[in-house]
Amino acid sequence: MIKQNGCVFELGNTKIRYIMIVNEYGYLENLYFGKKIDYMPCIKNARINRGHGTLIPGETDRNADAGNVRFEYSSANRGDYRTPSFEIEFDSDGDRCCDLKYLSHRIVDKDLSSDLPKCDGGETLEITLLDENTGLKVYLYYTVYDDIDAIVRSVKVENTTTEVVYLDKFYSFNIDVPNENYSYSGLFGAHLRERKLEQAPLTHGLHTFNSRRGETSSVVNPFVALHDSTADEHSGNVFGFNLIYSGNFELNLELDEFDSVRVNGGISSEGFRWKLNPGDVLETPECVLVYSCFGFNKMSQTFHDLYRRHLANKQFINVNRPIVINSWEATYYNFDDRKLKQIIDNVAESGIDTFVLDDGWFAKRDDDTTSLGDWICDKTKLPNGIKDISDYCHNKGLKFGLWFEPEAITPDSNLYKEQPEWVLKAPRHIPSLARSEFVLDLSNDAVRKHLTNVLLRHIEENKIDYIKWDMNRSLSDCFSQHLPKSQRGEVMHRYILGLYNILNNITQKHPHVLIEGCASGGCRFDAGILKYCPHIWVSDNTDAYMRAEIQRGTSYCYPLSSMSNHVSACPNHQTQRTTSLKTRFDVASFGVLGYELDFNTISAEERGAISKQIDAYTQDRELIMNGDYYRLITQNDVIYADVVVSKDKSKAILKLMYGLKVPNTTIRPIKIWGLDENTVYRFEESNEEFSGNILENRGIVPDCSPNDFYTEIYHLTRVE
Ligand code: DGJ
Repeated sequence: MIKQNGCVFELGNTKIRYIMIVNEYGYLENLYFGKKIDYMPCIKNARINRGHGTLIPGETDRNADAGNVRFEYSSANRGDYRTPSFEIEFDSDGDRCCDLKYLSHRIVDKDLSSDLPKCDGGETLEITLLDENTGLKVYLYYTVYDDIDAIVRSVKVENTTTEVVYLDKFYSFNIDVPNENYSYSGLFGAHLRERKLEQAPLTHGLHTFNSRRGETSSVVNPFVALHDSTADEHSGNVFGFNLIYSGNFELNLELDEFDSVRVNGGISSEGFRWKLNPGDVLETPECVLVYSCFGFNKMSQTFHDLYRRHLANKQFINVNRPIVINSWEATYYNFDDRKLKQIIDNVAESGIDTFVLDDGWFAKRDDDTTSLGDWICDKTKLPNGIKDISDYCHNKGLKFGLWFEPEAITPDSNLYKEQPEWVLKAPRHIPSLARSEFVLDLSNDAVRKHLTNVLLRHIEENKIDYIKWDMNRSLSDCFSQHLPKSQRGEVMHRYILGLYNILNNITQKHPHVLIEGCASGGCRFDAGILKYCPHIWVSDNTDAYMRAEIQRGTSYCYPLSSMSNHVSACPNHQTQRTTSLKTRFDVASFGVLGYELDFNTISAEERGAISKQIDAYTQDRELIMNGDYYRLITQNDVIYADVVVSKDKSKAILKLMYGLKVPNTTIRPIKIWGLDENTVYRFEESNEEFSGNILENRGIVPDCSPNDFYTEIYHLTRVE
């Protein structure tokens, strides 16, 4: 719903409201964001004489302090001293002032034609802001949904002046809200231990969550939540912000001296400088603003619904995802066609439907130091070529997937010898290596075209059904050898546009080819990638115990249907920990299931168990992919408890995971949320019956003497 009455804009649905006003000075100002209320003229923002404040340009009344205004989009250098969302410089004289006031508005069809990932559907409001002094125009976009409690925001700038203007900062959104003793949360981590939720009380000053790695990174996810300090999984006000972007980003929370909180962010402004010639336009990535009055679970479910229904690759969202066997942890670089075919033979009857050949199939790639860039089959390993393996899979009824790391190049490759100017490299410095790689300059059209052609050729010649798109390093030496000096600050954003462009070209041309996202595991797990890759490899850490925590952290923003999880061998290759095959499956099955172990060496008994697991998973898959996911609160030996509930609440799958066995411990009931309290549910595994009301308010007492890292799965069905 988008309602406009005079100078007031009301956006929302039956649950949320976002209210803005064109204020007495002509600025677009936020009046409210939160639980649904109906606008009445009594809703006002404070106008206080701050004494020491700087006034709105042109005003003389001391109450007209720029620090009073809750800007919907904030520009720099005009008396608002909070972190701005928009900074420009006129090329001719270095003027950096800008004053964006409301000009007009209209309902529009969102332009989905560019490569930049965007949410579709809903209703979109465009509000045009104008700097009357220069003629520069900025367009704010707000998309709302009847049944999703989110506002999707983005911005477009159009250089309607007659001069060259540089953008030094161009954020996707800005919102100023009154502080209510809020805390904030983010997802932090590192390679192999990605996305763990951390919380802190909001204190004065600027708190920035960012990446300068050229990828969103495993270190800080492009997500922040502002929330009641008492908010938990099921209760409290939570405002979640998630960028639909895969590159350098900034998300700021700033508590000012008058207890107002500014949240803004978008493309990182560090090193960013974009040249706008007269007539040029540029759009920002989208940012999703979610409001939940039922704590973090409802916030997450809103992100999940939005991404499943309006963002993630449509081709695959409603079809069964492949269940893959991936060769990486089975063989690493050590394979030949005989070994691969034996694996394919061994999985053929298991229910696995796709074989993915990971790293090591090309040029002289026997370790990670060489050959990236030369995507030519290594005939010493695979004398009959990739097509032979692909045909072998197809003849056995399996689909065939192939690993690429298109963005990277090793110095010993032929491509590097032929096109040294295609890598990111500053003129006076040798570029830094990471995993023996340089980075190809995806801001360069010639590089994009080359990579698109290489991938298309492989898809077509080798009949590829599935691509694992990897990227194993953060970007450095971010200097494009092809952009002119005046556009050097564009390289990082152009790189990401280049990435989206290649992904778009491939998915357009071959919509049936599923591209799995990956970046050293989960170093680029973001909503931008989801547009093209329906699922993303969550982490290189496949240890079930650690993986459960990583998946749980990932679920704060991203649905189970976006998480690619594999059952791997034990002792686990990352932690040396041994967990049962059941535990590994139970954890991996809360997402897109796959396997990553050597089918040639596992026992017949394990093979049989895996077939049964796959049978069970395929029965549950629809619910796991599309249900409402809840992180339950646990307090004892059960370290993680999660439940997925079908949208009609007729069934659910509950997973309990134990940590280290503790003797003589306290057992507290686990309360199960999300069910219909007036319905009786049967626990199929234990044949017990409970009402939804009992499950939510009293909870169940789990079994108390399991082994380390034990998991239990219960299927709950409505008793008719
Ligand atoms: C990192 C990925 O996350 C792994 O799954 C594997 O594909 C390796 N790269 C291959 O080099």
